[in-house]
Amino acid sequence: MALKLNTSYLSGFLGDEELKGIAVQTEAAAKVLHDKNGLGSDFLGWLTLPTDYDKEEFARIKEAAARIKAQADVLIVIGIGGSYLGARAAIELLKSPFYNNMKKDTPDIYYVGNNISPTYLNEVLSICEGRDIAVNVISKSGTTTEPALAFRIFKKLLEDKYGKDEAKKRIYCTTDKARGTLKNLADAEGYESFVIPDDVGGRFSVLTAVGLLPIAAAGCDIDKLMAGAAAAQKAYTAPFAENDCYKYAALRNIFYRKGKAVEMVVSYDPSMAMMNEWYKQLYGESEGKDNKGLFPSSAIFSTDLHSMGQYIQDGARLLFETVIDIKKPKQDLFLEADAENADGLNFLTGQNMSVVNRRALEGTILAHTEGGVPNIVLELDDTAEETLGWLIYFFEKACAVSGYMLGVNPFNQPGVESYKKNMFALLGKPGYEDMKAALEAKLH
Ligand code: PA5
Repeated sequence: MALKLNTSYLSGFLGDEELKGIAVQTEAAAKVLHDKNGLGSDFLGWLTLPTDYDKEEFARIKEAAARIKAQADVLIVIGIGGSYLGARAAIELLKSPFYNNMKKDTPDIYYVGNNISPTYLNEVLSICEGRDIAVNVISKSGTTTEPALAFRIFKKLLEDKYGKDEAKKRIYCTTDKARGTLKNLADAEGYESFVIPDDVGGRFSVLTAVGLLPIAAAGCDIDKLMAGAAAAQKAYTAPFAENDCYKYAALRNIFYRKGKAVEMVVSYDPSMAMMNEWYKQLYGESEGKDNKGLFPSSAIFSTDLHSMGQYIQDGARLLFETVIDIKKPKQDLFLEADAENADGLNFLTGQNMSVVNRRALEGTILAHTEGGVPNIVLELDDTAEETLGWLIYFFEKACAVSGYMLGVNPFNQPGVESYKKNMFALLGKPGYEDMKAALEAKLH
């Protein structure tokens, strides 16, 4: 097992029988998931994806990644939400948050189309000057405004720089197999295209071409990533008593019912920062509906102990923490003696820095639990591809089970449409004329 759930710090927060008591409900939710008769059951392709994926397309992803590597200094990844976060999270964890500044034989990667800031886009455009570029545009619907706007700009840049024919060879599309503006454009222009399966929703799509192409282009081993997810798929069909994924879903629901409003996922390595963002989308969009759901939040310690630590220790008792404990960091650093010892840190001489980080983790768990904050611990072997594949599947399945226990449809996101309608109306998009005047009257 690449991941182990450690519940030993929960004794003061859970009655002896509580997990046992909720086991039946958890297994019932898991059965609904496996029997495919729950809400949103058209979107369960991710459940068997690690073993049941298109092998021909997988091979094509690896070929395209090799081509991108040969043709580009910079890969522009265009996408938002589920069409963005997973790839970035994986690359920053597997490679580094400093990926673009590392000496390597893979292109730098910049992510655009995940916001509408003209400053951000102009800055990426200026970084691209004088460099060879490839673009991977990702949108399942093919109609999302943010990526469509960014793609329009990068398509023109490539066509102006290379001419239409060469530009086509540098544009890779990941979208629906049959529908949407992007699919139509890809077919008309002859871009190489990859498919987001109909039955896999955006935030569950990191193990499709959505995540796999950028991850492979960054030089990560996607075979190992899928192998790790496949091992988790097998492990997490076990009965509740041996199933850490089901237990985690159950614990979240227990704390929610006890009145906790917030889950804070915590890691002690900044390379997990974007994984935190991926987790927040997965759980926020899946569970936050019908006026229900834990609010997913995150922190990187010890960094955020110097900003959020006071609140967690002493503020309103509304949260529990899920601590991701990486047992083996990618690298270590040996601490040597200093002749002067002006900083008084010679008591650490002869230690590895990972030991200091571990003591910080242990000390913080003890402090926070004593302060009344339940701490669930997820122990991860390391940050290699297999382990990440396992972690992705763990969070996805726990999210679906947890959502069914909450009684919501974990696979839709109706609330996301509200801002879009207002934005389109205010921008004067045809078809939104009536709304425009009404909204403008409300603006100050
Ligand atoms: O999880 C989801 O479905 C969303 O976050 C989408 O991924 C996001 O809105 C982007 O959509 P699309 O891929 O259609 O551009």
